[in-house]
Amino acid sequence: VERTLVLVKPDGVRRGLSGEVLRRIETKGYTLAAVELKHATPELLAAHYAEHEGKPFYAPLVEFMLSGPTLAVVAEGQGVIPGFRSLAGATNPTEAAPGTIRGDLGRDWGLKVQQNLVHGSDSPESAAREIALWFPGL
Ligand code: GTP
Ligand code: MG
Repeated sequence: VERTLVLVKPDGVRRGLSGEVLRRIETKGYTLAAVELKHATPELLAAHYAEHEGKPFYAPLVEFMLSGPTLAVVAEGQGVIPGFRSLAGATNPTEAAPGTIRGDLGRDWGLKVQQNLVHGSDSPESAAREIALWFPGL
């Protein structure tokens, strides 16, 4: 069965939106396969965000992701990888459509990194790699 890695990033956890994100995953009809509150380490983030190393937002992104706990979730169901990206909405919360997680619950805070509440794997290869990083042994 198809699986994706969802993260409720530290801004979402701080704002008390973990339950709202889980609710949207479940009411869409996907199943929760694993849920764990974790404080990311620099090593985990270096691996998770390897594709962004060297970009101008990389250092602020890692700093932000170290600023508090993250809710890591494995969600499963047919089409869940693009399906959750669709639930999440555009990367920039100002541009994300109403009805999406980022569009309904996020905004621009004028900070160095887009604090956009959630992460969702962008391909089957990313999902397998990211699930192995956040849930070794699952
Ligand atoms: P994720 O699901 O979090 O991976 O988001 P995404 O796939 O929509 O975005 P991407 O993988 O390109 O970037 C990862 C994260 O880096 C984003 O979610 C943002 O938090 C941040 N980010 C990406 N692009 C920019 C940018 O152009 N400027 C800033 N300030 N932050 C960015
Ligand atoms: Mg991404």
